[in-house]
Amino acid sequence: MKSISLTVNGTSQTLELDPGTPLLYVLREELELNGPKFGCGLQQCGACMVILDGKATPSCVLPVAAAEGKEVVTLEGLAKEDGTLHPVQQAFLDEQAAQCGYCLNGMVMHAVSVLDENPAAGEEEIREALDINICRCGTHSRILKAILKARKS
Ligand code: FES
Ligand code: FES
Repeated sequence: MKSISLTVNGTSQTLELDPGTPLLYVLREELELNGPKFGCGLQQCGACMVILDGKATPSCVLPVAAAEGKEVVTLEGLAKEDGTLHPVQQAFLDEQAAQCGYCLNGMVMHAVSVLDENPAAGEEEIREALDINICRCGTHSRILKAILKARKS
């Protein structure tokens, strides 16, 4: 066990844990943040993505020790305090870009990070960046439409 400190959605957290525990388990089980999902557990589907120091990162394998001293943002941290959704979240709703919704955490977190880095990202760039995010329902065209819409807001 080790004391690990990190910031999650703007709040400092210090937890006593096995430093090898995957960040996803810490977020879901210790902090009760259920936005990030367990999909493959192998860094191959993107369902567990969070934004770690500004970059969308799968959290299912990453040891929590690797997030020590860093800023983690989860889906729960995107909306404003007054409840206003992030433009990417709103665009996903507007475009009904979900079927089962299982992939959406990763799709939204990755899109937010890509657009933060380059608000003028083109369709090809967005497609390429989100290539690692798998949607088993095949809702990709609506997801892409939503991200392109968010880019303009
Ligand atoms: S659950 Fe982490 S990438 Fe699939
Ligand atoms: S909406 Fe079902 S996995 Fe993407």
